[in-house]
Amino acid sequence: MRNRFLGTSSLQVSALGLGLAALGRPGYINLGHADDLESDYHPSAMEARAFAVLDAAWAAGVRYFDAARSYGEAETFLGRWLKLRNLPPAALVVGSKWGYTYTAEWQVRAESHEVKEHTLEVLQRQWQQSRDHLGRAPNLYQIHSATLESGVLGNAAVLSALGRLKDEGVAIGLSVSGPRQGDVISRALDLAPKGRPLFDCVQATWNLLDPSAGEALARARECGLGVIVKEALANGRLTPRNTTLDFASKMALLQQQARRLHTTIDGLAIAAALAQPWADVVLSGAARVEHLQSNLGALAVPWDEEAAVSLQRLREPPETYWQARAGLEWN
Ligand SMILES: NC(=O)c1ccc[n+]([C@@H]2O[C@H](COP(=O)([O-])OP(=O)(O)OC[C@H]3O[C@@H](n4cnc5c(N)ncnc54)[C@H](OP(=O)(O)O)[C@@H]3O)[C@@H](O)[C@H]2O)c1
Repeated sequence: MRNRFLGTSSLQVSALGLGLAALGRPGYINLGHADDLESDYHPSAMEARAFAVLDAAWAAGVRYFDAARSYGEAETFLGRWLKLRNLPPAALVVGSKWGYTYTAEWQVRAESHEVKEHTLEVLQRQWQQSRDHLGRAPNLYQIHSATLESGVLGNAAVLSALGRLKDEGVAIGLSVSGPRQGDVISRALDLAPKGRPLFDCVQATWNLLDPSAGEALARARECGLGVIVKEALANGRLTPRNTTLDFASKMALLQQQARRLHTTIDGLAIAAALAQPWADVVLSGAARVEHLQSNLGALAVPWDEEAAVSLQRLREPPETYWQARAGLEWN
């Protein structure tokens, strides 16, 4: 897999990255997550599964790995894997996120799975924890799901602390979520304390159901930010697992184009994201080796105008998309 730079940073990444949201904790919202984990939540079994997917990703040329404090033991699993495989820090790029605290106590069903606080205290606490669990400083540290409502983009104490981390050589990023991702990205692009843009990278949801952040991501790329795409499979809704009746006509369209381009449904959906000129990295959220390998098939898909035009019919209003996502069960 050919490497490229993450925006105008010196970080060399691969076109496909691996996200650990589904690998680090018993509960997550992805369709079929419980099946993936075969309902075996013993930490050593979870770690062994994470190692298997990490090894398969490394062997396939994946060089960007995405974790977060709130993904349960994801940072610990990634840190131990890096140590055991004795991978030199410069051989890959590790990104993590702060702002959400994991509260599910290793349960699939929990009153609360994660709590979001974009405060200076949380940043300082989690920066220390991320380094301890990863066994090294992440190359990229991202605000987890920044929104206008969270107020973080107006929090001077947090912004200057991030500026200090940047001075120490850490790339600073933000991930965005919700129906107004574009507005948050625009606000972030305006932030240039001491005349220097603060953010080096933005991570956003972009897929065939909700491509609404595309314009803002193109602008971010033009401004030199790296762009990471998350949820390219809409948490499994753009895979054969989505057997809901009201999705049947859209699934038929996906199958038709996947057949024409000799790929799978997930390969097609990820290829759509890879084809965006502003996308530096598209994340696979696979929790199974065979799903990762199927996702890697996207790299060989000859995406074309016919696919782009015909699959526009899958688009949903962002509010509808995020409402459906909010309705996905933790499993
Ligand atoms: N706010 C944020 O910053 C944020 C939010 C969400 C995600 N992210 C990042 O983005 C990454 C990816 O997103 P995501 O995992 O949430 O969602 P996603 O990539 O849209 O969906 C992944 C889901 O699709 C399933 N899948 C993949 N290939 C498949 C196949 N061939 N057949 C059937 N099912 C298949 C996976 O199943 P298996 O699990 O069985 O492989 C998994 O359930 C995360 O790991 C995380 O790093 C960040």
